[in-house]
Amino acid sequence: MTTIKKLKDLEIILNKSSEKKVLGLVPTMGSLHKGHISLINSAVKLCDEVWVSIFVNPTQFNDINDYKRYPTDLRKDIDKIKSTNQNVNIFIPNIDDIYGLKIFKDKFDFQNIDKVLEGIKRPGHFDGVGTIVKKLFEIFKPSLVFFGEKDFQQTVIVQKIIDNYFEKIKMIVCPTIRSKEGLALSSRNSLLSKHAKKNVSVIYDSLLFAKQNFYKFSKGELKKIIKNKIEKNKGFFLEYFELRCSKTLKVCSKKNIKNCCCRAFICVVVEDVRLIDNLVITNEY
Ligand code: PAF
Repeated sequence: MTTIKKLKDLEIILNKSSEKKVLGLVPTMGSLHKGHISLINSAVKLCDEVWVSIFVNPTQFNDINDYKRYPTDLRKDIDKIKSTNQNVNIFIPNIDDIYGLKIFKDKFDFQNIDKVLEGIKRPGHFDGVGTIVKKLFEIFKPSLVFFGEKDFQQTVIVQKIIDNYFEKIKMIVCPTIRSKEGLALSSRNSLLSKHAKKNVSVIYDSLLFAKQNFYKFSKGELKKIIKNKIEKNKGFFLEYFELRCSKTLKVCSKKNIKNCCCRAFICVVVEDVRLIDNLVITNEY
């Protein structure tokens, strides 16, 4: 296991790696949980050499407070990776190595996929994600990259980056890992109060309700029922509940359901923490 902090040192090591090796990259912002560990375990299974990057990327935060309070614990992260697998390598760059003197994000044309769902309340977020992902892919030249289904919109964005710039890279999307209450694991969950944690199961329950009752209610009725379920809990606010096609992220309606793989997307703000989740509703492609 190697832990590298300087880009120059990393480049020396990567230059020595054999071209034939299957190199896997797991990009993270640290504060690792079981969701990340499952990405790392998948990478270990499929790759000869695995790198985990830990970098809290400033350009993907549209809210400076969200950036400042983003949980970090490098020591714990390194221990967790070590105890998962001794052969996994870690890259922990500093801001200068990634951005040079000017912290700047690229502008991408994601064909409006960045303008819906998360893109509405977080303008520019996906340009920031695209910028860091593109930089990491350029540095590592991985064969396989690993991302979590929890951030489903992000996986669609990353696939666009791959299609446009890195045709040899294959993305593996790993299933969402949940707490026993059904809450999708996320680094931000650690910011929730005890009261909130007691009630967060309502988010996944709402997605399951949507799946079970998709043909029974209209879209509007489903949304209304789910909003009521969620907002019964003090401090919970439904930011969005939407049914969209997994491939295009275009809105699904019952009329075009035969032509799309419909997925429910939800965002609930709990005590100022945005919690997102999603679930496949129909799989008819
Ligand atoms: O999903 C995340 O943790 C981040 O958005 C990523 C992909 C590591 C880019 O900073």
